[in-house]
Amino acid sequence: MCGIIGVIGHNKVSSLLIEGLKRLEYRGYDSAGIATLLNGKIDRRRSLGKIENLKRLLKKSPIKGNVGIGHTRWATHGIPSKTNAHPHSSGDVAVVHNGIIENYDELRKKLEKKKFIFESDTDTEVIAHLISYYLKKNLSPLKATITALKKVEGAFALGIIFSGINNYLICAKRGSPLAIGKGKNCNYIGSDSIALAPLTQKLCYLNEGDIAEITSKDFRVYNQNGKRVKRSITTTSLAKNKIKMGGYNHFMEKEIFEQPAVIGDALKYFIDTKKKKLLIPSFAKKIKKIKEIYIAACGTSYHASLIGKYWLEKYANIKTEVDIASEFRYRNIINIKNSLGIFLSQSGETADTLAVLRYFNQQKGKTLGIINSAESSIARESNNVMETHAGPEIGVASTKAFTTQLVALGALTLFMANFNKTMGRNEINKLSNALVEAPGQISKILKMDNIFHKIATNIKNAKNVLYIGRGTNYPVALEGALKLKEISYIHAEGYPAGEIKHGPIALVEKGVPVIVIAPSDQLIDKTISNVEELLSRGAKIIFISDKKGIKKINNKKITTICLPESHEIISPILYSIPVQLIAYHTAVLKGTDVD
Ligand code: M6R
Repeated sequence: MCGIIGVIGHNKVSSLLIEGLKRLEYRGYDSAGIATLLNGKIDRRRSLGKIENLKRLLKKSPIKGNVGIGHTRWATHGIPSKTNAHPHSSGDVAVVHNGIIENYDELRKKLEKKKFIFESDTDTEVIAHLISYYLKKNLSPLKATITALKKVEGAFALGIIFSGINNYLICAKRGSPLAIGKGKNCNYIGSDSIALAPLTQKLCYLNEGDIAEITSKDFRVYNQNGKRVKRSITTTSLAKNKIKMGGYNHFMEKEIFEQPAVIGDALKYFIDTKKKKLLIPSFAKKIKKIKEIYIAACGTSYHASLIGKYWLEKYANIKTEVDIASEFRYRNIINIKNSLGIFLSQSGETADTLAVLRYFNQQKGKTLGIINSAESSIARESNNVMETHAGPEIGVASTKAFTTQLVALGALTLFMANFNKTMGRNEINKLSNALVEAPGQISKILKMDNIFHKIATNIKNAKNVLYIGRGTNYPVALEGALKLKEISYIHAEGYPAGEIKHGPIALVEKGVPVIVIAPSDQLIDKTISNVEELLSRGAKIIFISDKKGIKKINNKKITTICLPESHEIISPILYSIPVQLIAYHTAVLKGTDVD
């Protein structure tokens, strides 16, 4: 997931670009680069790997200027390498790009016929050559960019500088997020507000198809046909200095440990924690008659959605379907007009989720974005928004964003149960009390950190790890496996406990760690019988449960972890803490790059 930063009108452009790229590191990347403009000449530096490498390169071979663009690249077209790193240049143009150009192959062939020489395997380079081609035909930079982008199919956010024009930068957006930051005698571009927040709080989010000309003093926005358009400037709510590690070794560790506080804060938006009463927001009243819900999300947000489905069906009696967003487009939803589409996303910028939201909007379905980034595209394009209030999540592995998504989904379930009268007041109060207790219970679990560290020492050399659970614990198993894969690079799978015997058990040989998510609910006996099957294959069982649950399992070969007893509505929130910490410690022990 690439990142863009651009600066115009500052005499320390190169260091501002590097600082901006550092703030974008959380999105993941494999190479980075910057280009600046000094006395009309473009100079660029690129390097493979960490931004530290780029910094070292700049120390040896500094570049100056007061206009510049920077990029962190996550390889899609072409391997991670210095030559494939952005900015890409052609003639008088240097370009940074987020997104994917779908017709790049066709464009590349056409440009090669016109004698343009490609140095990289990227899709981005076609944009640099195309603009350069139209500049050579004497079009102005703006006209050349507009004409080039008409030929391009796919998604992009672009930052472009031109040699020979000192106080000038162009940016454009279609399908990928981009904002202009308005400063004092200095302007900026950034692919998200986290990159821009310390530079300015005044942001102008571009609309689809927008192209903007920026100078140090001002900016002008045009639509894709070159017609001047007005775009408003908003003030970002992101605080300037909030994004610090605060004594922790990694952002992921910090974000895991701040969950009691963050969840406590998030709950205050949905429940009057003193009176233990629901605070029903105005959007909820607009969706109260909904009979059918479709949720679309990716990755961790998809796992949270699966838990939301259990709750909405069980407590509010609403038919709920959940899809991985990238798969949604292959379905034919018959009754979109009368259903509610929910779009769950931490960043609010995930392209597949955004695409489903747009489809729903086109079909005139009601939409609700459950998002963490209040200024994101999903938040701006949804009819209704429910913020999850996790604060910026910098670690690449989603942790506090997941648990606060669960809090929001739990609260939404209670709002709907209240409207549908599927639960009485007492029952609703009992569930809201359970949610209010989550921060305290999580604090207790965080104090058991040395136990999770010990589990990590036992699994760090495993080739495969299995996670199993039933009901709402099944998505927690999926989440545990995703966390482990994502940051420790150990192959891991999450399975519904009852499905293990239908094939996957064949992979369980002596010593394979199996992490069992099993609070003492009505499903625990069934899960224990799956544990017996796995034990007979020699699996190393790590059984996460509570006092009652552990009493039921009497086998010395099993490692047990005893969590506090809790109401079943909060158990997926509580049981995600051990799986987050096991993944975190395993990655640290293996020496992989956690954040
Ligand atoms: O920002 P989103 O919630 O839409 O992101 C979706 C996934 O890319 C994300 O949850 C990913 O799976 C996590 N980083 C995994 O920890």
